[in-house]
Amino acid sequence: MDRNQRPPGEDHGRQRSGKETVALTGVPETLLWNLYQRACAARQPSWKFHDPKAVELVDAIDYPFAETFGPPNPFLAQGHCLRVRTFDTVVRHFLTERPYGTVVALGEGLETQFWRVDNGRMSWLTVELPETAAVRRRLLPDGDRRRTYPCSVLDPAWPDQVGTAHGVLVTAQGLLMYLRPPEVREVIATCAGRFAGGALVFDAVPRWFSACTRRGAMRTRRGYAVPPMPWGMDGGELRKVFGAHPYITAVREVPPPRGHGPYYGVVQPVLRRVPVVRNLRPTMTVLTRFAAQA
Ligand SMILES: C[S@@+](CC[C@H](N)C(=O)[O-])C[C@H]1O[C@@H](n2cnc3c(N)ncnc32)[C@H](O)[C@@H]1O
Repeated sequence: MDRNQRPPGEDHGRQRSGKETVALTGVPETLLWNLYQRACAARQPSWKFHDPKAVELVDAIDYPFAETFGPPNPFLAQGHCLRVRTFDTVVRHFLTERPYGTVVALGEGLETQFWRVDNGRMSWLTVELPETAAVRRRLLPDGDRRRTYPCSVLDPAWPDQVGTAHGVLVTAQGLLMYLRPPEVREVIATCAGRFAGGALVFDAVPRWFSACTRRGAMRTRRGYAVPPMPWGMDGGELRKVFGAHPYITAVREVPPPRGHGPYYGVVQPVLRRVPVVRNLRPTMTVLTRFAAQA
Protein backbone atom coordinates (compact mmCIF):
# COMPACT_ATOMS: atom_id res chain seq x y z
CA MET A 1 0.00 0.00 0.00
CA ASP A 2 1.21 3.49 -0.83
CA ARG A 3 2.38 5.27 2.34
CA ASN A 4 0.01 8.14 1.60
CA GLN A 5 -2.99 5.79 1.49
CA ARG A 6 -2.45 4.45 5.01
CA PRO A 7 -5.54 5.19 7.12
CA PRO A 8 -4.71 7.74 9.82
CA GLY A 9 -4.39 6.28 13.29
CA GLU A 10 -3.69 2.75 12.01
CA ASP A 11 -1.02 0.74 13.79
CA HIS A 12 -0.06 3.28 16.43
CA GLY A 13 1.78 1.57 19.25
CA ARG A 14 4.90 -0.26 20.27
CA GLN A 15 6.44 -2.65 17.78
CA ARG A 16 8.23 -5.88 18.54
CA SER A 17 11.46 -3.99 17.75
CA GLY A 18 10.72 -1.87 20.83
CA LYS A 19 10.20 1.20 18.67
CA GLU A 20 7.00 3.23 18.64
CA THR A 21 5.02 3.29 15.41
CA VAL A 22 3.54 6.63 14.44
CA ALA A 23 1.18 6.40 11.50
CA LEU A 24 0.10 9.93 10.68
CA THR A 25 -0.70 11.31 7.25
CA GLY A 26 -1.48 14.72 5.74
CA VAL A 27 -0.84 17.80 7.90
CA PRO A 28 -0.26 15.84 11.16
CA GLU A 29 2.58 13.94 9.47
CA THR A 30 4.44 17.23 8.93
CA LEU A 31 5.29 17.24 12.66
CA LEU A 32 7.71 14.40 11.92
CA TRP A 33 9.60 16.56 9.41
CA ASN A 34 10.02 19.23 12.10
CA LEU A 35 11.09 16.70 14.70
CA TYR A 36 13.61 15.20 12.26
CA GLN A 37 15.11 18.63 11.50
CA ARG A 38 15.38 19.48 15.21
CA ALA A 39 17.10 16.19 15.96
CA CYS A 40 19.51 16.76 13.04
CA ALA A 41 20.29 20.24 14.41
CA ALA A 42 20.77 18.93 17.94
CA ARG A 43 23.29 16.42 16.58
CA GLN A 44 25.53 19.26 15.31
CA PRO A 45 27.65 20.09 18.38
CA SER A 46 28.92 23.40 17.00
CA TRP A 47 25.38 24.80 16.65
CA LYS A 48 24.86 24.65 20.42
CA PHE A 49 21.19 23.69 20.01
CA HIS A 50 20.43 21.51 23.02
CA ASP A 51 17.43 19.26 22.33
CA PRO A 52 18.21 15.73 23.58
CA LYS A 53 14.50 14.96 23.81
CA ALA A 54 14.10 15.40 20.02
CA VAL A 55 17.02 13.05 19.39
CA GLU A 56 15.52 10.55 21.84
CA LEU A 57 12.16 10.68 20.06
CA VAL A 58 13.60 10.22 16.57
CA ASP A 59 15.54 7.21 17.82
CA ALA A 60 12.44 5.79 19.52
CA ILE A 61 10.00 6.17 16.62
CA ASP A 62 9.70 3.57 13.91
CA TYR A 63 9.28 5.86 10.92
CA PRO A 64 11.32 6.02 7.69
CA PHE A 65 12.60 9.56 8.33
CA ALA A 66 15.48 9.52 5.84
CA GLU A 67 13.52 7.54 3.23
CA THR A 68 10.63 10.00 3.41
CA PHE A 69 12.32 13.37 3.97
CA GLY A 70 15.78 12.63 2.58
CA PRO A 71 19.09 12.20 4.39
CA PRO A 72 19.99 14.76 7.07
CA ASN A 73 20.48 18.10 5.32
CA PRO A 74 22.42 20.67 7.38
CA PHE A 75 21.03 23.59 5.34
CA LEU A 76 17.39 22.64 5.99
CA ALA A 77 18.11 21.65 9.58
CA GLN A 78 19.78 24.95 10.35
CA GLY A 79 16.95 26.97 8.78
CA HIS A 80 14.46 25.08 10.90
CA CYS A 81 16.61 25.31 14.01
CA LEU A 82 16.85 29.10 13.69
CA ARG A 83 13.06 29.36 13.55
CA VAL A 84 12.79 27.14 16.63
CA ARG A 85 15.36 29.25 18.48
CA THR A 86 13.38 32.38 17.58
CA PHE A 87 10.31 30.90 19.26
CA ASP A 88 12.40 29.77 22.24
CA THR A 89 13.66 33.31 22.72
CA VAL A 90 10.11 34.69 22.82
CA VAL A 91 9.01 32.03 25.31
CA ARG A 92 12.06 32.56 27.57
CA HIS A 93 11.47 36.31 27.54
CA PHE A 94 7.82 35.77 28.55
CA LEU A 95 8.89 33.44 31.39
CA THR A 96 11.40 35.99 32.63
CA GLU A 97 8.55 38.47 33.00
CA ARG A 98 5.89 35.96 34.08
CA PRO A 99 7.68 32.97 35.71
CA TYR A 100 4.37 31.33 36.72
CA GLY A 101 2.70 32.12 33.41
CA THR A 102 0.97 29.71 31.05
CA VAL A 103 2.36 28.83 27.64
CA VAL A 104 -0.28 27.51 25.24
CA ALA A 105 1.28 25.67 22.31
CA LEU A 106 -1.23 25.36 19.46
CA GLY A 107 -0.63 22.49 17.02
CA GLU A 108 2.46 21.47 18.94
CA GLY A 109 2.95 18.04 17.39
CA LEU A 110 6.01 16.46 18.98
CA GLU A 111 7.74 19.76 19.75
CA THR A 112 10.01 19.39 22.75
CA GLN A 113 10.15 23.09 23.55
CA PHE A 114 8.92 22.54 27.12
CA TRP A 115 12.18 20.74 27.95
CA ARG A 116 14.30 23.45 26.31
CA VAL A 117 12.73 26.38 28.15
CA ASP A 118 11.26 24.99 31.39
CA ASN A 119 11.88 27.22 34.41
CA GLY A 120 10.35 24.75 36.89
CA ARG A 121 7.37 27.02 37.64
CA MET A 122 5.38 27.74 34.50
CA SER A 123 2.40 25.77 33.17
CA TRP A 124 2.15 24.36 29.66
CA LEU A 125 -0.90 23.44 27.61
CA THR A 126 -0.67 21.77 24.22
CA VAL A 127 -3.75 22.02 21.98
CA GLU A 128 -3.65 19.41 19.23
CA LEU A 129 -5.94 17.52 16.88
CA PRO A 130 -7.17 14.36 18.65
CA GLU A 131 -5.16 11.94 16.46
CA THR A 132 -1.93 13.89 17.05
CA ALA A 133 -2.73 14.48 20.73
CA ALA A 134 -2.98 10.69 21.18
CA VAL A 135 0.52 10.27 19.73
CA ARG A 136 1.92 13.09 21.86
CA ARG A 137 0.37 11.74 25.05
CA ARG A 138 1.81 8.30 24.32
CA LEU A 139 5.34 9.54 23.61
CA LEU A 140 5.39 12.57 25.92
CA PRO A 141 2.96 11.72 28.75
CA ASP A 142 1.40 14.62 30.61
CA GLY A 143 3.18 15.89 33.72
CA ASP A 144 2.35 18.10 36.73
CA ARG A 145 2.69 21.37 34.85
CA ARG A 146 2.24 20.14 31.29
CA ARG A 147 -0.77 18.61 29.57
CA THR A 148 -2.16 17.96 26.13
CA TYR A 149 -5.74 18.87 25.27
CA PRO A 150 -7.18 17.02 22.24
CA CYS A 151 -9.03 19.64 20.27
CA SER A 152 -8.82 21.58 17.02
CA VAL A 153 -7.64 25.15 17.45
CA LEU A 154 -10.84 26.06 15.58
CA ASP A 155 -12.95 24.59 18.38
CA PRO A 156 -14.07 27.35 20.79
CA ALA A 157 -13.61 24.96 23.75
CA TRP A 158 -9.82 25.21 24.16
CA PRO A 159 -9.48 28.75 25.61
CA ASP A 160 -11.55 27.61 28.61
CA GLN A 161 -8.71 25.19 29.46
CA VAL A 162 -6.17 27.98 29.88
CA GLY A 163 -5.24 29.28 33.33
CA THR A 164 -4.88 33.03 32.89
CA ALA A 165 -3.99 34.19 36.44
CA HIS A 166 -0.23 34.55 35.80
CA GLY A 167 -0.23 35.67 32.17
CA VAL A 168 -0.55 33.82 28.88
CA LEU A 169 1.68 33.40 25.86
CA VAL A 170 0.22 31.48 22.91
CA THR A 171 2.58 29.94 20.37
CA ALA A 172 1.59 28.67 16.93
CA GLN A 173 4.72 27.30 15.33
CA GLY A 174 4.30 25.70 11.92
CA LEU A 175 0.51 25.75 12.23
CA LEU A 176 -1.30 28.75 10.76
CA MET A 177 -0.11 28.16 7.17
CA TYR A 178 -2.13 24.94 7.17
CA LEU A 179 -5.38 26.78 7.94
CA ARG A 180 -7.58 28.75 5.54
CA PRO A 181 -7.25 32.57 5.73
CA PRO A 182 -10.58 33.10 7.60
CA GLU A 183 -9.53 30.40 10.09
CA VAL A 184 -6.20 32.13 10.70
CA ARG A 185 -8.05 35.35 11.41
CA GLU A 186 -10.37 33.45 13.76
CA VAL A 187 -7.49 31.94 15.75
CA ILE A 188 -5.75 35.33 16.12
CA ALA A 189 -9.06 37.00 17.09
CA THR A 190 -9.83 34.28 19.66
CA CYS A 191 -6.44 34.80 21.31
CA ALA A 192 -6.82 38.60 21.34
CA GLY A 193 -10.35 38.40 22.72
CA ARG A 194 -9.65 35.78 25.41
CA PHE A 195 -6.14 36.56 26.69
CA ALA A 196 -6.11 40.18 27.81
CA GLY A 197 -2.53 41.40 28.27
CA GLY A 198 -1.23 38.25 26.59
CA ALA A 199 0.56 37.64 23.32
CA LEU A 200 0.64 35.29 20.36
CA VAL A 201 3.77 34.30 18.47
CA PHE A 202 3.36 32.59 15.11
CA ASP A 203 5.24 32.02 11.91
CA ALA A 204 4.11 32.57 8.35
CA VAL A 205 5.24 31.55 4.89
CA PRO A 206 5.16 34.07 2.03
CA ARG A 207 2.42 33.98 -0.57
CA TRP A 208 4.63 32.48 -3.29
CA PHE A 209 5.51 29.57 -1.02
CA SER A 210 1.86 28.96 -0.14
CA ALA A 211 1.00 29.00 -3.87
CA CYS A 212 3.71 26.41 -4.62
CA THR A 213 2.36 24.04 -1.98
CA ARG A 214 -1.17 24.44 -3.33
CA ARG A 215 0.11 23.35 -6.76
CA GLY A 216 1.80 20.33 -5.14
CA ALA A 217 5.16 21.69 -6.26
CA MET A 218 6.95 21.36 -2.91
CA ARG A 219 8.33 17.84 -2.91
CA THR A 220 11.38 16.16 -1.52
CA ARG A 221 13.55 14.13 -3.88
CA ARG A 222 12.02 11.06 -2.24
CA GLY A 223 8.55 12.09 -3.46
CA TYR A 224 7.17 13.37 -0.15
CA ALA A 225 4.84 16.26 -0.99
CA VAL A 226 4.41 19.07 1.53
CA PRO A 227 0.64 19.34 2.16
CA PRO A 228 -1.08 22.46 0.79
CA MET A 229 -0.57 25.60 2.87
CA PRO A 230 -3.67 27.68 2.12
CA TRP A 231 -2.49 30.75 4.06
CA GLY A 232 0.53 32.88 3.24
CA MET A 233 1.55 36.37 4.33
CA ASP A 234 4.39 38.48 2.94
CA GLY A 235 6.82 40.41 5.12
CA GLY A 236 5.30 43.67 3.88
CA GLU A 237 1.82 42.73 5.09
CA LEU A 238 2.45 42.69 8.83
CA ARG A 239 0.12 45.57 9.57
CA LYS A 240 -2.83 43.58 8.22
CA VAL A 241 -2.69 41.48 11.42
CA PHE A 242 -4.14 44.46 13.33
CA GLY A 243 -7.35 43.94 11.35
CA ALA A 244 -7.99 40.58 13.02
CA HIS A 245 -9.17 42.11 16.33
CA PRO A 246 -9.43 45.58 17.92
CA TYR A 247 -7.52 44.45 21.07
CA ILE A 248 -4.32 43.87 19.10
CA THR A 249 -1.95 46.58 20.28
CA ALA A 250 1.35 45.64 18.65
CA VAL A 251 2.58 43.49 15.79
CA ARG A 252 6.25 43.04 15.08
CA GLU A 253 8.58 40.64 13.38
CA VAL A 254 11.03 38.73 15.57
CA PRO A 255 14.24 38.23 13.60
CA PRO A 256 15.96 34.86 13.81
CA PRO A 257 19.38 34.70 15.49
CA ARG A 258 22.46 34.77 13.29
CA GLY A 259 23.42 31.30 12.15
CA HIS A 260 26.48 29.63 10.66
CA GLY A 261 27.82 29.73 7.09
CA PRO A 262 27.42 32.31 4.30
CA TYR A 263 23.63 32.16 4.02
CA TYR A 264 22.50 31.97 7.67
CA GLY A 265 25.49 33.90 8.98
CA VAL A 266 25.63 36.75 6.45
CA VAL A 267 22.74 36.86 3.96
CA GLN A 268 19.67 35.92 6.01
CA PRO A 269 20.23 38.54 8.74
CA VAL A 270 19.95 41.39 6.20
CA LEU A 271 17.21 40.01 3.94
CA ARG A 272 14.34 41.40 5.97
CA ARG A 273 15.64 44.91 5.41
CA VAL A 274 15.79 44.63 1.61
CA PRO A 275 12.62 45.83 -0.17
CA VAL A 276 10.92 43.22 -2.38
CA VAL A 277 13.33 40.50 -1.22
CA ARG A 278 11.84 40.70 2.28
CA ASN A 279 8.63 39.32 0.78
CA LEU A 280 10.43 36.33 -0.70
CA ARG A 281 11.98 34.98 2.49
CA PRO A 282 10.68 31.46 3.11
CA THR A 283 9.50 32.17 6.65
CA MET A 284 9.09 34.91 9.25
CA THR A 285 8.12 34.91 12.92
CA VAL A 286 5.61 37.45 14.21
CA LEU A 287 4.80 38.56 17.76
CA THR A 288 1.35 40.02 18.39
CA ARG A 289 0.44 41.65 21.72
CA PHE A 290 -3.04 42.14 23.17
CA ALA A 291 -4.54 44.97 25.22
CA ALA A 292 -4.44 44.40 28.97
CA GLN A 293 -8.05 45.51 29.48
CA ALA A 294 -10.77 43.84 27.44
C1 LIG B 1 4.11 21.31 10.88
S1 LIG B 1 3.41 20.53 12.28
C2 LIG B 1 4.08 21.60 13.53
C3 LIG B 1 4.29 20.87 14.82
C4 LIG B 1 5.03 21.70 15.86
N1 LIG B 1 4.37 22.95 16.14
C5 LIG B 1 6.45 21.95 15.44
O1 LIG B 1 6.77 23.10 15.11
O2 LIG B 1 7.24 21.01 15.44
C6 LIG B 1 1.70 21.05 12.20
C7 LIG B 1 0.90 20.61 13.40
O3 LIG B 1 -0.36 21.28 13.40
C8 LIG B 1 -1.32 20.38 13.88
N2 LIG B 1 -2.63 20.87 13.43
C9 LIG B 1 -3.06 21.03 12.16
N3 LIG B 1 -4.30 21.54 12.14
C10 LIG B 1 -4.66 21.71 13.43
C11 LIG B 1 -5.84 22.18 14.07
N4 LIG B 1 -6.90 22.59 13.37
N5 LIG B 1 -5.88 22.21 15.41
C12 LIG B 1 -4.80 21.80 16.15
N6 LIG B 1 -3.66 21.35 15.60
C13 LIG B 1 -3.60 21.29 14.25
C14 LIG B 1 -0.91 19.04 13.30
O4 LIG B 1 -1.49 17.96 13.99
C15 LIG B 1 0.60 19.11 13.45
O5 LIG B 1 1.03 18.61 14.67
